[in-house]
Amino acid sequence: MTDPVADSVAGLLQSLGENRLAWDGDRLLARVLDCTLAQLRAFPERVVDTERLSQWRALVDRRAAGEPYAYLVGEQEFWSLTLAVGPGVLIPRGDSELLVEAALARIDSRVSGWVADVGTGSANLALALASERPRLTLLGIEASAPALAWAKLNCRRHRLKNICLIRARGLATIPERSLQALISNPPYIVEGDPDLDPATLRFEPSSALFAAESGLSLLRELAIEGLRVLKPGGWLLLEHGWTQGAAVLELLRSHGYGECRTLLDLASRPRVTLGQRQS
Ligand SMILES: C[S@@+](CC[C@H](N)C(=O)[O-])C[C@H]1O[C@@H](n2cnc3c(N)ncnc32)[C@H](O)[C@@H]1O
Repeated sequence: MTDPVADSVAGLLQSLGENRLAWDGDRLLARVLDCTLAQLRAFPERVVDTERLSQWRALVDRRAAGEPYAYLVGEQEFWSLTLAVGPGVLIPRGDSELLVEAALARIDSRVSGWVADVGTGSANLALALASERPRLTLLGIEASAPALAWAKLNCRRHRLKNICLIRARGLATIPERSLQALISNPPYIVEGDPDLDPATLRFEPSSALFAAESGLSLLRELAIEGLRVLKPGGWLLLEHGWTQGAAVLELLRSHGYGECRTLLDLASRPRVTLGQRQS
């Protein structure tokens, strides 16, 4: 970014030219000035002091280099929650709210018991469900130590009593027939996928993204393990890529789950597949 020539809000934003939106110039300036976007726009003549100007310039430079906005400001909204995020953990995507909606539609608010979230990351899914279903206890399972540290921070901040976290790979430590539901947004991207956003690849942890066997390895493991850890009648709910709906549906059917269905996201793409453990 070239040095801004003006030090008013309007001058700084104009200095970004056509990159203003793509580089989140307005949102970052509002953050640095500790005001809302509406306040920023209402007072374009406001003068920005040199200290804040250099803070803003440093953030815009990082944004222009591709760093995600959520990492720059250290937080991301998900469901009704503000979550702390940063390097080492996947930034929760709005798409994953479909998985929360699907779980809420199948777990009655009077039901108590355990629900596991494999690959909990920032604990976005587990916290969303824990906040909506106080009678359930959510168990967030995460293999990566840096990601688990973010999950712990978010659990402390949201002060929910019905959630706990463990560091583990998969479900080996979970007792048989102990879960009301098993949810997961596991890594499911095929390495070399040309559709993957280059910024995601550069900044977010690869252990959160990629899986072997055409992206299906952990999805398959969860379908198999789900039969052991779910109570009869318990639900398995899996997020997956939009090209994987048919394969995951077949996976669940072939392992004997009932009531199998694939749900579409707002763009009408198949993104969540679920099934119920039979007796
Ligand atoms: C796609 S991210 C999802 C994170 C979060 N649940 C979300 O929806 O944003 C997948 C997460 O699974 C974790 N992970 C990968 N393999 C795992 C395994 N075998 N057991 C537990 N966690 C695993 C990764 O470290 C990563 O945090």
